[in-house]
Amino acid sequence: MNEKEEQRMYKEDMIYSAEGAPADEPARQFVFTEKCRELVLKKERETGRRLTFFIQTFGCQMNARDSEKLAGILTRIGFEPAEDEAADLVLYNTCTVRDNANQRVYGRLGHLNSLKKKNPDMLIALCGCMMQEESVIEKIRQSYRFVDIVFGTHNIFKLAELLYEKLTRRDRVIDIWQETDRIVEELPAERKYPFKSGVNIMFGCNNFCSYCIVPYVRGRERSRRPDDILEEIRALVADGVIEVMLLGQNVNSYGKTLDTPITFAELLRRIERIEGLKRIRFMTSHPKDLSDELIEVMANSRKICRHLHFPLQSGSTRLLKIMNRRYSKEQYLAMTERLKSRIPDLSLTTDIIVGFPGETEEDFEETLDVVRKVRYDSAFTFLYSKRTGTPAAVMEEQIPKEVAQARFDRLLKEVQEISAEVCGKDVGKILPVLVESVDERDASLMTGRLSNNIMVHFPGNPEQIGTIVDVRLNESHGFYYMGESTQR
Ligand code: 5AD
Ligand code: SF4
Repeated sequence: MNEKEEQRMYKEDMIYSAEGAPADEPARQFVFTEKCRELVLKKERETGRRLTFFIQTFGCQMNARDSEKLAGILTRIGFEPAEDEAADLVLYNTCTVRDNANQRVYGRLGHLNSLKKKNPDMLIALCGCMMQEESVIEKIRQSYRFVDIVFGTHNIFKLAELLYEKLTRRDRVIDIWQETDRIVEELPAERKYPFKSGVNIMFGCNNFCSYCIVPYVRGRERSRRPDDILEEIRALVADGVIEVMLLGQNVNSYGKTLDTPITFAELLRRIERIEGLKRIRFMTSHPKDLSDELIEVMANSRKICRHLHFPLQSGSTRLLKIMNRRYSKEQYLAMTERLKSRIPDLSLTTDIIVGFPGETEEDFEETLDVVRKVRYDSAFTFLYSKRTGTPAAVMEEQIPKEVAQARFDRLLKEVQEISAEVCGKDVGKILPVLVESVDERDASLMTGRLSNNIMVHFPGNPEQIGTIVDVRLNESHGFYYMGESTQR
């Protein structure tokens, strides 16, 4: 049987086993959720205990939000959350943007195998970006036979159906879609925080930066309809959310491919009008698509936070061209100038890659020059990682590791020195802080965030969690402040 036939057989299998389940989503998944629930209840009666799940998320905020949806599905099926991997179902939501993320997954899979030997009924599932790579699937097929369920980025909504399939019929279920144009709305989600939430506004990426694997594993750009987004945010606010983080690989191109196109700036205007919502964040903004309209909406908004994550990647116009970023060093600097003059209290953060193929000492100096001119609040610095299938992976002149590492160390030092100065600029001010948690190291302190995303620790009580309180910023410690609440 060739692969096509196998796929068709598999599809026919699914139709047969799903007899009685509607074809429409998410209605179909609700039926499978119920079917799984019965099986889980049966197992609970046999064992006399609740079944548990544990999800480990690797990578970005998109994955974190996907994991909340996966947790939502598993909770409705009847699983209880567990503290660690000693659970009945363990799911790794993987990342593949740099190779070290992949290596961490393989490392931890070994540990899961030993847990499964103690609990043979344990289910192990893998999903996310890494699973969209053929070489990874091949490796799992050959060398990780204890993995029970594998799916990708396009079909997370199908978890209930895949689990049912595994529990009732098949040795193991591997279901990877190459592409999709569908967006399944109204999936349940279990939020990590009751008072803040990520909200996907778009999926995929069309930019094909030459080093980046994301467009290959997350597919083409698709925007959600504005009304679906607004409805979701209204429901979140009704459920206690006061801050949303709008998520997309390139939010600045939101809405361009909709039947009735709208701009990201217009979407923000509509979200701003939602009563009860207090703070709006978003990421990521691609510099090539930053519009004056967006800068104006931010400048005039009461709710949009004073923070823009604005990935530079490199300060060299020559390298930016080879990276396919579609802006020059001068254009980038001009945009940051405009942003700072229209929104004086804006904090800028960035991503920078060091050691891209062909990077010369002069190219690297250009990056340092931008860092010194923009003076970022913080910068995520990455060593270039070769991703198979991307144009950069086959470029000549890959940079020796030692050279890249030496540049990386220089950049990091520069970034940290500037950041310590910039982040301390608000000492003495009283600013609103969204209180997020009890401080990890000192239970008499609370931890929260300023509008510009900087953390603040101050004496307080857990009842303040999820509220916005005014805090006087007494001392700066580089990346965070110590303060005191001015409210009683
Ligand atoms: N190597 C190193 N860093 C990368 N990034 C994306 N692809 C690579 C790669 N191949 C970084 C970029 C991006 C961030 C999310 O990850 O800086 O903005
Ligand atoms: Fe990757 Fe570039 Fe798309 Fe960002 S914009 S996800 S760096 S291809």
